[in-house]
Amino acid sequence: MAASTYGRRAGGSGILPRASAASGRPSVPSSVDQATGADAYDQWFDSRWGRYAAAIERDTLLQAVGPVEHDLVLDAGCGTGRFSIELARVGARVVGLDIDIDMLAIAARRLAGSVVLGDIECLPVRDGVFDVAAAVTVLEFVPHPDRALAELIRVTRPGGRVVVGALNRRSPWGVLHRRRGGAWAGVRLFSTDEIAALGEGQGGALSMTGALLAPGPFPGLDHLGPALERIGRRFSRIGAFQVLVMRRR
Ligand SMILES: C[S@@+](CC[C@H](N)C(=O)[O-])C[C@H]1O[C@@H](n2cnc3c(N)ncnc32)[C@H](O)[C@@H]1O
Repeated sequence: MAASTYGRRAGGSGILPRASAASGRPSVPSSVDQATGADAYDQWFDSRWGRYAAAIERDTLLQAVGPVEHDLVLDAGCGTGRFSIELARVGARVVGLDIDIDMLAIAARRLAGSVVLGDIECLPVRDGVFDVAAAVTVLEFVPHPDRALAELIRVTRPGGRVVVGALNRRSPWGVLHRRRGGAWAGVRLFSTDEIAALGEGQGGALSMTGALLAPGPFPGLDHLGPALERIGRRFSRIGAFQVLVMRRR
């Protein structure tokens, strides 16, 4: 759930974070300071809430994707490559793609240079190249999520997997942050049903999972959080992080 609020730069070549005090994520002082935006975004993962939430998201994602050893994986909208590197750690050959050059510069350091500048809605990639194509908390920021998903499907080989990680507006976290407004107000958060419908509209979902029940950082999170997550496994539809996996026909 590493996201603050992003807006497309005039000219269409980039994405910039705005302040995100309500999210518990780093506020970015100026939309002109792109490097600071990408750095601040990346540093969120090392915050107390960032460590907690990102670990749950990583585990949920890896479990939903299944084995990826030796697979060629596209991480579209890879940001600073925090999840790309987790996929690489379990044996995938990962290519990170992002529309924001500053995000990509950080991802390039993590991924030993295997990165591409591009738009998920118009991927600069041939059909059927990847074993797995993933987008983690990216569809929230694009004008046409259905077009982005169609592109992920197009670049995946028949029998390969398409994976979408998305933030759930009907989760405790989603409800709290929508109520607070602020940085998240401009971001389109999906419900579980909306993400499932997006997948069904493109040929069907293989699985849908959800996790991250905590509404945000609270005192005792490190002790109470794991118990909350265990209970939450029965209520995965209200997890803040949901993962859709589709099999490419
Ligand atoms: C919330 S971040 C998620 C980054 C990464 N997937 C993660 O989970 O840490 C959203 C990312 O999507 C990227 N993005 C937004 N619109 C995009 C587009 N049209 N094409 C490619 N990347 C895009 C942004 O630049 C940003 O890095």
